Amino acid sequence: MKIGLLGHGVVGRGVREIIDAGATWEVRELEVKRILVKDEIEMVDPRCTLDFEEILNDPEIEIVAECMGGLEPAHTFARKALEKGKYVVTSNKKMLATYCEDLFKTAVANGVTVHYEASCGGGIPWMAALDRIRRVDDIESFRGIFNGTTNYILERMKREGTDFADMLKEAQNLGYAERDPSDDIDGHDVKYKVALSVVKAFDRLVDINDITTFGIRTIRKADLEYCAANGYTCKLIGTGSDYGDYVSACVIPMFLKADDVFSNIPLNFNVIESQSKTLGAASFVGQGAGSLPTAHAVVQNIIDIWKNQDPEINDKFVRPVDNQVHKGVFYIRTAKQAAFTPLIDRHVSETAFVTKKISLVEAAAAAAAADDETLFIAEVAQ
Ligand code: HSE
Repeated sequence: MKIGLLGHGVVGRGVREIIDAGATWEVRELEVKRILVKDEIEMVDPRCTLDFEEILNDPEIEIVAECMGGLEPAHTFARKALEKGKYVVTSNKKMLATYCEDLFKTAVANGVTVHYEASCGGGIPWMAALDRIRRVDDIESFRGIFNGTTNYILERMKREGTDFADMLKEAQNLGYAERDPSDDIDGHDVKYKVALSVVKAFDRLVDINDITTFGIRTIRKADLEYCAANGYTCKLIGTGSDYGDYVSACVIPMFLKADDVFSNIPLNFNVIESQSKTLGAASFVGQGAGSLPTAHAVVQNIIDIWKNQDPEINDKFVRPVDNQVHKGVFYIRTAKQAAFTPLIDRHVSETAFVTKKISLVEAAAAAAAADDETLFIAEVAQ
């Protein structure tokens, strides 16, 4: 099975390494025939090309593995590959979550499929698990620590009292962070992963802009101190629940109780938990970022295609996101408390308070109205 690899960065290089190494008989059936790179300086292998058409027009290449990142030209290349009847495997959650409907429709029209295990949870076989659980059960909800960079930052800040900016730099050096790290620290990376998990778990498509999203850019030592003093651990959590006609989906820092298994997920690891009727809660833990773990997931998808284990393609219906059903208690630190007066339950410091039980929609609306770029919000586990 011959593969055209798009991108030779952190993930692309890992895919090439795993396939070239051929550790198992399945991997030895695969061959990276061409590698698309952006610049002359990246032409480090005789298979490298600067011309996507060489991959597109090569009839021997049946699978295009898109590991470029970014929206364009990744989206156009993936679309063209599908139109040519090539399977697409992608690790690019931003691109796929943004163009999901377009790419799935193009795949169906051309009798091929799009595979995206690596786009969500790095090396964790989360999508494969969802396919398997759904053979027996409807998935009711999921929650996860979906971002290695922020988990790494939060863990190191908690353990060593280190500075946010230094930890971000380390996560970048380790190859965990996105090209634009604001995708990590503002929660967008998790938002894309939540959207793709909604697709796989519920067969629903959602507009990524409707997913309520808060990140950890504004977290400060004082917030973590409050957390520790009250026996909580702060983690950035993505969730989704299926309500039939609509879904609830959000990304928000959460103050988790010490006995929550999510509280002890270290460094670049991710954990994702599904909830379904007969299986109950099932959790999946592994390295959510990094070259070889993510490349492992890409190669798994390639082997799925080669072994003809395509997930069934169902018609996917667009559903609205409605977070009125998401009720909780929120910790908010802001210099502008006036917007929150009716929502406050008690103050925990001069600038921070805990709300009454309110909906996420109310909390998000008040946070937007406060118009305070230093505001930090987290949901407190009950
Ligand atoms: N930037 C992402 C993370 C990479 O830190 O989890 C894996 O998707």
